[in-house]
Amino acid sequence: MQNRNNYGILGVGSCLPEKVFTNHDWEKLVDTTDEWITKRTGISERRILEKEQPTHELGIKAAKMALEDAGLTAEDLDLIIVATETPDYLSPSMSCLIQKGIGAKKAAAFDLNAACSGFIYSMTVAGQFIKTGVYKYVLVIGCEGLSKVMDWKDRNTCVLFGDGAGAAVLGPVEEGYGVLNTYLGAAGDLGHNLTIPCCFITEEDIAKRPNENKRVLWMDGSEVFKFAVKIMEQCTRQVLEEIGMSLDDIKLIVPHQANIRILESATKRLGVENEKVFSNLHKYGNISSASIPVALNETYREGKIAKGDNLVFVGFGGGLTWGAAVVKWSK
Ligand SMILES: CC(C)(COP(=O)(O)OP(=O)(O)OC[C@H]1O[C@@H](n2cnc3c(N)ncnc32)[C@H](O)[C@@H]1OP(=O)(O)O)[C@@H](O)C(=O)NCCC(=O)NCCS
Repeated sequence: MQNRNNYGILGVGSCLPEKVFTNHDWEKLVDTTDEWITKRTGISERRILEKEQPTHELGIKAAKMALEDAGLTAEDLDLIIVATETPDYLSPSMSCLIQKGIGAKKAAAFDLNAACSGFIYSMTVAGQFIKTGVYKYVLVIGCEGLSKVMDWKDRNTCVLFGDGAGAAVLGPVEEGYGVLNTYLGAAGDLGHNLTIPCCFITEEDIAKRPNENKRVLWMDGSEVFKFAVKIMEQCTRQVLEEIGMSLDDIKLIVPHQANIRILESATKRLGVENEKVFSNLHKYGNISSASIPVALNETYREGKIAKGDNLVFVGFGGGLTWGAAVVKWSK
């Protein structure tokens, strides 16, 4: 029996740009090598939007796939939440652009920015509406065009990122299934380690950016790296401990895909086997809030998860923010 106290994922979808941008392509633009990028990050290629292609187009396609998978139509949706740190416009929001694109006429719509943790934040917010009976079906999309905000001349950052969108339709599921727990956190005092200026920029932020375009992503890679390794372990343990579960109960961890060395260190710290931690980083690089739903869609379509499997999603990123979720797969 469906019960609104139990909410879960009814359908998933994703969309990546067609254009593949390899490490060899970067070799032609900045002082780097395929060997350095592969060894230091695990990334071989990423997908990049054409300059004239808006990011929300990816979100529309991912949403349509997720709705089809859920056996629902756009008109069934009550709410759309788009997790993004790279909106095409500040207004209208990505969620309104996507609402229009899929024809979800009765849905309310807003964006949520928690950077790479955005999908888990959005799932958690969606759950509050479903559990309280305010809404039945909520579409959550991680939709990012990092290529539009990165510094194409800064080898420290440009090779790390890609574009993409991943979507999930959330709604009531059978008792005992669905999202069992979520855990969110933030440390604004560390936010200066990863910044993308928008309507305002400080002299300090201008000085950090050596190239002519100042409204681009800047990151202190090693500070974020240290933070990511620690928080990924801490978050995964916390979200399980809160509901009396352990890593032995988990079939698969679907983490934010930022750097293979972060995933390997966290895997080691958690003491789990490599097969328990999903990675598709080599193909897409870091696509921020889209990375978990894109990875989830891929693992689901490859038949790697079955009804009743317990999954952990774990993300971390700009803000700085972090989040984790435990999901008993209900499809
Ligand atoms: C960015 C990152 C890959 C750098 O890797 P690293 O091993 O820490 O490398 P370092 O920062 O120590 O830099 C080492 C050298 O490589 C150089 N380098 C940086 N990018 C390079 C590139 N693309 N190609 C070649 N050399 C590069 C640096 O300039 C530095 O040179 P120097 O020693 O002469 O100054 C790594 O710190 C990282 O992944 N951080 C986390 C990033 C992340 O996940 N962010 C998103 C979180 S959501």
